[in-house]
Amino acid sequence: MVNTTIKARIEQIKYECEGIISLELIPVNQNSFPSFSAGSHIDIKLPNGHTRSYSLTNAPNQYDRYNIAVKLEEDSKGGSAWFHHEARVGMEIQTLPPSNDFEMVPSDKMTVLFAAGIGITPILSMIAKLNSENHAWTLHYSAKTKRQRAFFPLLEKLRENSNGQIHYYLTAEESSRMDLQAIMQASPEGTHFYCCGPASFINVFIEAGQNHPAENIHFERFSASQEAATDGGYNIHLARDGRTLPVEAGQSILDVLLDSGIDVQYACSEGVCGTCKTTVLDGIPDHRDDCLTDEEKAQNKAIMVCCSGSLSKTLTLDL
Ligand code: FES
Repeated sequence: MVNTTIKARIEQIKYECEGIISLELIPVNQNSFPSFSAGSHIDIKLPNGHTRSYSLTNAPNQYDRYNIAVKLEEDSKGGSAWFHHEARVGMEIQTLPPSNDFEMVPSDKMTVLFAAGIGITPILSMIAKLNSENHAWTLHYSAKTKRQRAFFPLLEKLRENSNGQIHYYLTAEESSRMDLQAIMQASPEGTHFYCCGPASFINVFIEAGQNHPAENIHFERFSASQEAATDGGYNIHLARDGRTLPVEAGQSILDVLLDSGIDVQYACSEGVCGTCKTTVLDGIPDHRDDCLTDEEKAQNKAIMVCCSGSLSKTLTLDL
């Protein structure tokens, strides 16, 4: 299925906390955007040519707008830096329709949500959905400092008159850390657990959830569980283009492709969204992503070029 891009206008930009802004997007040529479910994200095509994925933070029944939040990343390849330094109210951008890799499962049991840092974004939409169903929930939300705790006023508003509770943790200021294992152990049977945040946080969540039914454990990564392969020392051969290009230490395959003017689609640059999946014709990739299954990795027929490298001297790509 071909996804048609939708024109959106930046209606509002708001400072949410240190390093994080939120944006409200409204449709340009229609009254409403396509509907979405809690936990969805949109892929935004930026004027600088980059495509980036952002979770929708608003309630799933509010599709007259899309709300997103963007954290300024130090090593931004043009996504977060564009939003923080160049985006202005009134500008038009293109987005693809929402998709959801972090679906909520219908349940009449308790819901426990875990978030760290910018990982709060899909959780906001989930809380709005749970509130609309008068469902019981508890959120455990961790940030380094009060100044880095995003959406505090909105969270307090979502908690008001709801069936929900929120526990905040400030890891640098108060040394308060959430004990995911203890929280999960103390939760009633049948509880569904949802988690979003950095790779290390998700890894702790997965470990803590091992004694719970797998169907009750849900998470979304914003970064891959492994370091990107940037040791270099190999070549990529582009079968259709005809060129052979060296990948030097400190570079990803994606860096080399972009520097060489190859038009390759990418979004997260972290090995979690699958946008940069490229067919491998020959050679053995050094898989570092969280998109391909173990079986797919063993077949060596595809690679996520944003984070994976090569175990063979030359990797031939269908580019
Ligand atoms: S750009 Fe998202 S997996 Fe490579």
